[in-house]
Amino acid sequence: MSTLENLSCPIDATPLSRDERSLKCEHGHVYDLAKTGYINLLPVQNKRSKDPGDSKEMVAARQAFLNQQHYFPIVNKILSSWPKSDLVNGTRILDAGCGEGYYLNAIGGALAEQNIAMERTGLDISKWAITAASKRDKSVSWLVGSNASLPVPNARFDAILCLFGFPIFSEFSRVLSDKGLLLLVESGPDHLIELRKILYPSIHDYKQTFSEGMAHFDLVSEQSETYRFTLNSQTEIQQLLTMTPHIHKASYDGREAVKQLESINLTADIKLRWYRKTKVVDYV
Ligand SMILES: C[S@@+](CC[C@H](N)C(=O)[O-])C[C@H]1O[C@@H](n2cnc3c(N)ncnc32)[C@H](O)[C@@H]1O
Ligand SMILES: [Zn+2]
Repeated sequence: MSTLENLSCPIDATPLSRDERSLKCEHGHVYDLAKTGYINLLPVQNKRSKDPGDSKEMVAARQAFLNQQHYFPIVNKILSSWPKSDLVNGTRILDAGCGEGYYLNAIGGALAEQNIAMERTGLDISKWAITAASKRDKSVSWLVGSNASLPVPNARFDAILCLFGFPIFSEFSRVLSDKGLLLLVESGPDHLIELRKILYPSIHDYKQTFSEGMAHFDLVSEQSETYRFTLNSQTEIQQLLTMTPHIHKASYDGREAVKQLESINLTADIKLRWYRKTKVVDYV
């Protein structure tokens, strides 16, 4: 069951307590549960736009694409690369920028087969993503919120997954327990290269992201997963395009060329980096 426990008020950071179908803080701020069971902890004053994060269309495209299981090898790789001594019952995990919940749901299913139960929380700034996620899996606590100001107390989680997302390392460090784990998953140099060659006149040199600003973390392991998959219809190709930033970045001509395709063979090239929160030294 989704617990929605141990969360804090996004306005004043005091603890939230459950009262029927809402959460309340001691200063009288009230957050109602949505019909599908998620909670919106993104106050209006923390929103940079009226409808932040991925749009309804992007979320629907991502869900349709991921449900085809072309990215299931990434789920397997996450589980096989998870440091073994941390893969234990009761681990509290946060998927920060969880989208429509594919990975948390799939990870929960795969762990159940190994008789491991983790407490899973998914957070995303897009209410469309969290609405879809909360319909997909009722065993996860789903929150609308921002990585920039996570509505949870210090040391709330033992592991954070940030998959193709927008990490804020100081916040991640704050909400991780001592020696907590952080996983960053991002595209490698050849990811969807066949599609990018059609979309862009030239391909930029690969730059690894987030090599800066990681003072709070030590690298545990770095891995990559490369494999091929095929999309056999224009619908699937458009779903993939719509869920990536290429839909906005590519030229008109590039997008028109992609519209002519009936199928495409693609490379998935994924980088995974596991970090451990640096031990904080107390100077007394
Ligand atoms: C490329 S998608 C990846 C979604 C999911 N992790 C996956 O791999 O399917 C990036 C996600 O980050 C969310 N996002 C953007 N800014 C965010 C923020 N400040 N805090 C939390 N989520 C954010 C978007 O709404 C979107 O769902
Ligand atoms: Zn409050």
